[in-house]
Order: sequence, then C-alpha cells, then structure tokens
Amino acid sequence: MNCRVCSNKISEFMTLGRMPIANNFLEKKDFAKEYFFELLPAFCEKCYSFQIIEQPDPSMMFHENYAFFSQTSKNMILHFKKLSDKIKNNFFTSDNPFIVELGSNDGIFLKNFLNYKCNHLGVEPSKNVAEVALQNNVNSIVEYFSSNLAKKIVNKYGKADVVTSANVMCHIPNINDVALGISELLNENGVLIFEDPYLGSVIEKISYDQIYDEHVFLFSIYSVEAIFSKFGLHLFDVEFLQTHGGSMRYYLSKRKNTPISKNLLLSKENENKLKLNKIETYIKFSENVKSSKSKLIEIFDEIKNKNKLIYGYAATSKSTTVLNYCNIGTDYIEGIFDTTPIKQKKFSPGKHIPIIEYEKFNSYDFDYLYNFAWNHSTEIYENEKEFYNRGGKWISHVPFPKII
Ligand code: TMP
Ligand code: ZN
Repeated sequence: MNCRVCSNKISEFMTLGRMPIANNFLEKKDFAKEYFFELLPAFCEKCYSFQIIEQPDPSMMFHENYAFFSQTSKNMILHFKKLSDKIKNNFFTSDNPFIVELGSNDGIFLKNFLNYKCNHLGVEPSKNVAEVALQNNVNSIVEYFSSNLAKKIVNKYGKADVVTSANVMCHIPNINDVALGISELLNENGVLIFEDPYLGSVIEKISYDQIYDEHVFLFSIYSVEAIFSKFGLHLFDVEFLQTHGGSMRYYLSKRKNTPISKNLLLSKENENKLKLNKIETYIKFSENVKSSKSKLIEIFDEIKNKNKLIYGYAATSKSTTVLNYCNIGTDYIEGIFDTTPIKQKKFSPGKHIPIIEYEKFNSYDFDYLYNFAWNHSTEIYENEKEFYNRGGKWISHVPFPKII
C-alpha cells in the first residue's frame, strides 16, 4: 500500500481485525448481509501520517441515515460559538468577508455567522443533516469538497477569507486534492482553521477506539505540516482542545510570513518528546493496545464469574472498535443505553448488542456500566450519580482498563 499523502510505500504495524462500519446500527434482518473489512492502521515514515490501509466506500459510511447530528450537544454549540467569535475578531480581513465550512453538518457552527451578516457557505455531503442546516437558514450545498468544487465556489461567490472544518479533515482519503482546493479557494491573506482528534492523545491515552472506518487519518503537527505545506498553506498556530478525548486545532495561512505562535513551538517540542515521527512509537502503541485488550477481557471475566450484569453506556462510533477488536458481545454486555433515536431498538455493528432507549435506563437492573463515551466521563458520572451511589460501578478502557 502507498501513502495517501506522499505515495511512499507504507506497511501496517498492527491489525485491529475484522471490523464493521462503525455507525451502521442495524436491524436483525440485515445481520446476514453486514459488511466487514480489515482495520489496519499504518504509519508513513516519510510524511509522518497515520492512516488506515483500507477504507470502506464513503457511500457506505455517510448516507441518508447518517446518525450524527452536531446540534444534539450543548457543549459543542458553545465550543463553536467561541470559535466563530475568534474568527470574526481576528481573521476577517476583507470588507465583505466570506467563510466556507467543509462538512458543515446541521449548521451548528455557521449559524453563528448569520448574526455577523457575512457571507457563508457550508459544504456537506450528507443530505439529511444539510437539510436541517438549510431549514436554519444556513446556506449549504450537498457535495463532497474537491479542487473542482473549489473552482465552482470561487466562480460563484469569490475567494474566501476563512475555510474551516471540525472533525472532517481526518475523514477525507483524497486529502491532497482537498488541500489543493482549499488553497485555491482562499484569498491571499486567507486562513484555514481545522480541528480533529489528536494522534498525540491517542498514543498517550492508548485510545485506540479513535481508529475506525471514518477516521482515515489521525493527524499530528508533523503530518499536518507535511500535507498542507505542499499546497502553500503554512502552519502558524495550534490549540490543544479537550473535545473528543484530545483534539488539536490547526491554523494555516496562505501568507508565508505569518509569525509562528509560541504554542506551536511548544507543541512541536512535545511531539518530539512523544516521538510521533518514529515508527518505534507505533510499534510500542500496538503492544499497549494488546495489553489493554487482555486487561479488559480479564475484568469482564472476573465480573461474569460473579454472575453480575453489565450494560453499556452510549453507543458511540468508537465503541464499534472496542467491541469488535476485543470480541465483546452479548455474552458480556446485555445492552447499550443510548439517547439517539436512530440507533435505538437496533443492534450494535458487528457484535449485535441491543441498543436500548436511554429513557428506559431506570427500569433496568445492572451492577456495572461500560462507559463507551469516556471522553465525556466527568459529565456522565455527574449525571448518573445515583447509579454510583447505590453501589454501581463504571468500567472504562481509558484510562487503561479499570473499574471506577
Ligand atoms: P459519537 O461519539 O460517535 O458521536 O456517538 C455519541 C453517542 O453517544 C450518541 O449516540 C449519543 C450517545 N451518548 C449517550 O447516549 N449519552 C451520553 O451521555 C453521551 C455523552 C452520549
Ligand atoms: Zn506519506
């Protein structure tokens, strides 16, 4: 396999095994025709990008029934409001500013710009979420972004001051063409701002569940510089974010002479310490992942030997990697409570654990809850104090598998 960024020959350093589509919550009648592929993370020693070898066709992952609506999270609404204020105050340089978001979902971010009375455009390939954005007056087109589409946007709207994306860039296999398109779309002072789950956090936390079909890349500063500098986009600042268990926001400019922030220098030093540019780091990571799996199975077996009941909490995309890699099915977990209607009454991808309406949480009896949304632990443990106070225990694989 050749690297998607630089065409260098790369090889996988571990397998996470036979994997279904992470968000394909399905009905019983669809079990027999469920699609599986092999989840193989790999690292390119030339451009430092961490990528998965095989990715299912995008149409299988992002379609009419795509389960993810950004607006459902209050924290994310605030997160994007803060970013839009920062953009308005720092990066709108022209008289009639224009902002484009790639993967604009239901308009959670661009909605803020309606108040600022500036031109905006959302590019969103999933029709059902884009329709919600349109209903909210967020100008959106249902398309995959590409260099071709960039040309059409420039012809129709002119060049952009700012291009943004959040949790989207890491989904894009043809990243070179998208980077080229962004470079063509931005004006000469233009800025690209994007954020994605951070590879450094995945390595440190052994949060291997960030690796799933949709995440074709997990970025580091090393890899972002290697990809975007080829297209005249220069990294000048980064911001570490707590979202998604550790994310990085990257600021890149068309201007070569934009001063480099102190934060970028410090974060680069940290990447050097973590050795994110060395294959040995990923070999060590693969050993850590295997130990994490053994420890988790040990915990489950111990609990089952005591005849205690375990349920899951939050049917996240990440949970698909954990459940399938660790081979955890209904023999261990009776059901998973989840708040998203489109997942409820269906079964989890691959292991076919029933998804139960969160509204029924209090009518079930259980001793342990597996926290699949570990990145929201503080909020969840607070919300479910009652369970803990009556002697209930949480299980989580981040930090390293343990009972809490
Ligand atoms: P995601 O991590 O793939 O975006 O999925 C998040 C899922 O977790 C979504 O279906 C909603 C569910 N969830 C809960 O059911 N309860 C919670 O407290 C949280 C944080 C998420
Ligand atoms: Zn490469």
